[in-house]
Amino acid sequence: MAMSEQAQSIKKQHLIDPEICIRCNTCEETCPIDAITHDGTNYVVRSDICNHCMACVAPCPTGAIDNWQPVFADKMYSLEEQYSWEQLPAPLTPPDPAEERIAGVDVAGEPELTIQGSNYVSGSQVPPWSASHSYTNLYGTRNVITATVSGNYRLTDESSDSDIRHVVLDFGDAPFPVLEGQSIGIIPPGADAANRLHHARQYSLASPRDGERPRYNNVSITVKRVVQDYDGNPVRGVCSNYVCDLKKGDKVQVIGPFGHTFLMPNHPGANIIMICTGTGSAPMRAMTERRRRKRGDGQGDERGKLMLFFGARCEQELPYFGPLNKLPKDFIDINFAFSRTPGQPKKYVQDVMRERLPDLLALLKDEDTYIYVCGLKGMESGVLEVLQEAAASGGMQWPDLHATLRQKGRLHLETY
Ligand code: FAD
Ligand code: A2P
Repeated sequence: MAMSEQAQSIKKQHLIDPEICIRCNTCEETCPIDAITHDGTNYVVRSDICNHCMACVAPCPTGAIDNWQPVFADKMYSLEEQYSWEQLPAPLTPPDPAEERIAGVDVAGEPELTIQGSNYVSGSQVPPWSASHSYTNLYGTRNVITATVSGNYRLTDESSDSDIRHVVLDFGDAPFPVLEGQSIGIIPPGADAANRLHHARQYSLASPRDGERPRYNNVSITVKRVVQDYDGNPVRGVCSNYVCDLKKGDKVQVIGPFGHTFLMPNHPGANIIMICTGTGSAPMRAMTERRRRKRGDGQGDERGKLMLFFGARCEQELPYFGPLNKLPKDFIDINFAFSRTPGQPKKYVQDVMRERLPDLLALLKDEDTYIYVCGLKGMESGVLEVLQEAAASGGMQWPDLHATLRQKGRLHLETY
């Protein structure tokens, strides 16, 4: 085959790095066209289905998903081959990179992200400029770290059906450096119905970088016991029930930390808007606690505002309700949205945001404002809509502002 013909027959194949992948299932859940599947060993991409839409890339906690190898069109890696890998094969050396132009994909680089259409990614792929350096993937499925449970407390009212817990994990003298906004993976013991070891589930950290207990090597997570699936059918969530039932002294298999973009800004004057539902409050608690401790140490930044929008069914189901209410009003501007309080209209976070449009606009106009959204996937579009409304109310062009927020690491979404 002539060199140019050979180059034209090269395609870019989307592959998952089995050495880094933690088998958390996030990619398979995220893929809108079911191009990702797995067996007992590896997660793999069906090359005949994958359209390089990139939807799976940002949610992957490890970056294992972000591999694109040039391959000859008639020698794409089959599923069987991908299942057999312990590591990715060496990439093909393109015969002449100058000749490679493949169906919208630049072989030499990553597939290009477009701002509209199916490739649209709403949040930033970069952290704020002043974020601290994050360590990620220090522990994976091949070198898990064992943590010891040092506390497990119910956060929701006993009268409520919703069991959300604050679980503290201690790493002893093993290095586990974390930042607010990062998450960890927990591997529940045992195997699934097909006798495959359970995959890891992710949980956002609820504690700040210096530990749940300051200067101890421990972290906390906020875990909701899953007893119903998304359609309301009874189910026993494997990992959430395991974690919610943990007792002090129990040992837990942990991997991570994960996340290098959903990180807080550190520079003076940075405003933080936090929008969350349910356990999406975990990273917001971590960030708030970081700021609160700094303030207590006399390093507080009085200029940087904290604004919180927090949604739950009712007060009794809102994690951290008591502690949040004790925070000084000049420290944090808290806005609750309750959807099922008897005798009160149903309110979602986006409804309460709408009530604060002028204040949101003032913050949006400030280049030092950073926005974090975490919790139910369903709220994403509603929240973005209100941000757009706030921008429009001040004559700002949302598409431009949105692009700036994304590029500058000022808009972060983590929904599940
Ligand atoms: P599974 O056994 O995996 O699922 C059982 C069934 O319940 C399935 O049908 C599944 O579709 C459904 N299901 C799964 N989760 C839910 C849910 N939340 N509500 C209703 N039905 C559900 N969870 C937290 O509690 N706290 C966190 O801080 C947190 N942070 C996360 C951060 C990231 C980046 C991601 C991707 C997820 C996060 N999760 C968090 C969700 C968590 O990883 C698990 O998915 C959740 O605990 C359910 O796991 P499970 O093993 O109990 O349920
Ligand atoms: P709802 O009463 O409609 O379930 P959960 O308790 O399931 O974790 O949900 C947390 C809160 O988020 C609840 O108040 C829930 O209201 C609310 N919620 C549900 N769907 C959305 C949505 N699309 N946008 C914003 N909030 C939502």
